[in-house]
Amino acid sequence: MLLEVKSLCTEFPVKRGVVRAVDDVSFEVSEGEILAIVGESGSGKSVTSLSIMGLLAEPGHVAGGEMTFDGKDLVHLSEKEYREMRGNDMAMIFQEPMTSLNPVYRIGDQIVEAIRTHEKVSKKEALTRAIDLLRKVGIPSPEARVRDYPHQMSGGMRQRVMIAMALACNPKLLIADEPTTALDVTIQAQILDLLRRLREDTDMAVLLITHDLGVVSEIADRVVVMYCGQVVEEAEVRLLFDNPMHPYTLGLLKSIPRLEDDDSKRLYMIKGMVPNPLEMPPGCHFSDRCDSCMQVCRERMPELVQVGDHKVRCFLYEEQDGHAKDAAEVKANEEKAREAIEAAREVSTAEALIEGDVAREAEEGGADER
Ligand SMILES: Nc1ncnc2c1ncn2[C@@H]1O[C@H](COP(=O)(O)OP(=O)(O)OP(=O)(O)O)[C@@H](O)[C@H]1O
Ligand code: SF4
Ligand SMILES: [Mg+2]
Repeated sequence: MLLEVKSLCTEFPVKRGVVRAVDDVSFEVSEGEILAIVGESGSGKSVTSLSIMGLLAEPGHVAGGEMTFDGKDLVHLSEKEYREMRGNDMAMIFQEPMTSLNPVYRIGDQIVEAIRTHEKVSKKEALTRAIDLLRKVGIPSPEARVRDYPHQMSGGMRQRVMIAMALACNPKLLIADEPTTALDVTIQAQILDLLRRLREDTDMAVLLITHDLGVVSEIADRVVVMYCGQVVEEAEVRLLFDNPMHPYTLGLLKSIPRLEDDDSKRLYMIKGMVPNPLEMPPGCHFSDRCDSCMQVCRERMPELVQVGDHKVRCFLYEEQDGHAKDAAEVKANEEKAREAIEAAREVSTAEALIEGDVAREAEEGGADER
């Protein structure tokens, strides 16, 4: 296994208490695998990746758990060892490339610098490698473009340069935090295609962080769904899309518009908002928003348990002793969760129709009076 994260907890002490941004998170990434982490804004995706990269900003810190990368214990790595590892074996690309590229240096010089920091090669050799890398990430006329400054390139081109820099030392793991969010759809597709190709050519593993389920279905092998700092479901990508189990995953998938959807019905929306990290509901963090919430959900926190080919954190599937319910009960409860979401959608569609009627009547009434 290339990366193993076990019961990771990351905290930020703030004035009013402690924000536990990552709460008992476990997952694994094997060589050459693309693992996607998905979840709404604030679910702890970036803090998880920064914890792995050893790039947490003070006062954030890893408060518990284990992280092992390529046999090395990351939790007890010194800053110097971390620096050597970053860019050598593990690299990261961020959402906004302008924050990571230096505006006053030519992009070629920046890639040369990245190569020479980790390898003893001549400037000339590093430049040839930089041009090759730019070609690999699909930059046309790389011999000329190495002389460009970041502002002379489009957003999509800059993101490719970031990927080229991350690849400069052939990392075993690339962590990509929302690598396509700032890009338009065509460029997004090209970057995804590039990541897919790179994985095939180099066997590099990718930890892809995104809130875009379309991106996930295109490229990931396996998916971890996060909510309020916790993993709530994990499964292979096709299993997760064909048979989501956790009510939050079901809600996320139901909120994507599909062509075959009955358009007389409203698109499903998960009700309410992500809770304030300092005022989490007791019990299941999702309980205030869940259409399947039961009494026990408000009293205790479910554990992440193996249920068939999924891991899922929900009392619909867990006996109260941390084991999965039997297969028949799991099946029945999956159906119940789906029905609960459909029922909520019916209600919201009916409410929308009534609101529409009321608004129309008010308008017509107004017109009569005029
Ligand atoms: N420096 C900080 N101080 C206090 N809390 C923080 C800090 N950085 C992050 N957090 C908290 O950690 C939680 C997780 O944040 P994180 O940035 O990981 O979310 P995310 O899933 O990456 O969201 P997004 O999709 O918006 O990027 C949030 O509740 C956030 O408020
Ligand atoms: S544990 Fe309860 S509240 Fe939480 S997701 Fe499952 S059914 Fe919903
Ligand atoms: Mg983020």
